[in-house]
Amino acid sequence: MNGTVLNRQMENPTIVTIQQHILQQQRKHSPHATGSFSWLLSGITLATKMTEARVRRAGLLDVLGAAGEVNVQGENQQKLDVYADEALIHCLGVRENVAIIASEENEHAITFDGRDGHGEYIVVFDPLDGSSNIDVNVSVGTIFSILRMPKGLSPDDDPTAAVLQPGTRQLAAGYVVYGSSTIMVYTTGHGVHGFTLDPAIGAFVLSHENIRMPEQGSYYSSNDAYWEEFPRSYRDYLTHLRSGGMGRRYALRYIGSLVADFHRTLLRGGVFLYPPTHKNPEGKLRLLYEANPVAFIAEQAGGYALDGTRRVVEIEPKDIHQRTSLVVGSESEISAFQKFCHVDPDSLATGNGRSSLEF
Ligand code: AHG
Ligand code: MN
Ligand code: MN
Repeated sequence: MNGTVLNRQMENPTIVTIQQHILQQQRKHSPHATGSFSWLLSGITLATKMTEARVRRAGLLDVLGAAGEVNVQGENQQKLDVYADEALIHCLGVRENVAIIASEENEHAITFDGRDGHGEYIVVFDPLDGSSNIDVNVSVGTIFSILRMPKGLSPDDDPTAAVLQPGTRQLAAGYVVYGSSTIMVYTTGHGVHGFTLDPAIGAFVLSHENIRMPEQGSYYSSNDAYWEEFPRSYRDYLTHLRSGGMGRRYALRYIGSLVADFHRTLLRGGVFLYPPTHKNPEGKLRLLYEANPVAFIAEQAGGYALDGTRRVVEIEPKDIHQRTSLVVGSESEISAFQKFCHVDPDSLATGNGRSSLEF
């Protein structure tokens, strides 16, 4: 026989990168996969590594501060908002299987010339979440959600209609937290997995496999400065948590970056809430690229995500930048909340029956 059969083990054979993990998942759950989905996810990974490099050197480069433009939400864009947005658009734009992109920073959905109906996927994202924390060295992140291009719709005809799908149709969702370390968490409907960026090798390495939300935590997470504006039921619930009604007195943790607050809630338990307020009667967080991906991940980790009464992922979106209120936590945290909001628990099915990704 000519040739060499290599059977040496590497020094550390236990390292699994995010790319390897996605391929393993494909083999396990969709053996006939084309690899097109992992190509798409590698684009997101690359863009977030570009953004992370900027975030890490933020004080050294001219990347802090306002970019001088106001986005569609009426918010001042920061330079890093713009950079992260452009990095994602660039990295996804060269992947020919991406049909449409929608982003917090762009009023309209974005399509690409010359795809001729070959684009299979829609990617919606919040390129830089927690902008108010950029200049002060506090955790920020990126959030994304992936949908399939609906059959019979051409991206060029009405891209907005194609993007407006409920969260139950998400094929995958994830986020990156640029925190004390950089971590990417994703789901394709087969559990939730976390990968920490190893700066020595420039790769996201599996560090949190099959994350489950703890049944009970010790923190609630909401912006208490709006306390008087919260609906009565939310205030009663929070008072219950603060006064030991759950068997322990809950303390407050609130960073003001959804990704970071949700990441802590996912790993440590407790509840995250952004209720309706006078200023934002529909809630502040954006349904398609903040609440839906967080909800998909929470449900896959055994938790629940409501807009107060409904499962977030069942809301039929009417607008790309639509806002929603959001309450996320484990089954026991959310069932306590429901007692104050008078929701029939049986009306909330879990996400377990949802179809998962076909690669
Ligand atoms: P973004 O920076 O993408 O606009 O998102 C900010 C969001 C979210 O990350 C956070 O949970 C919330 O705004 C904080 O709002 P408050 O300052 O009203 O608490
Ligand atoms: Mn955001
Ligand atoms: Mn943002």
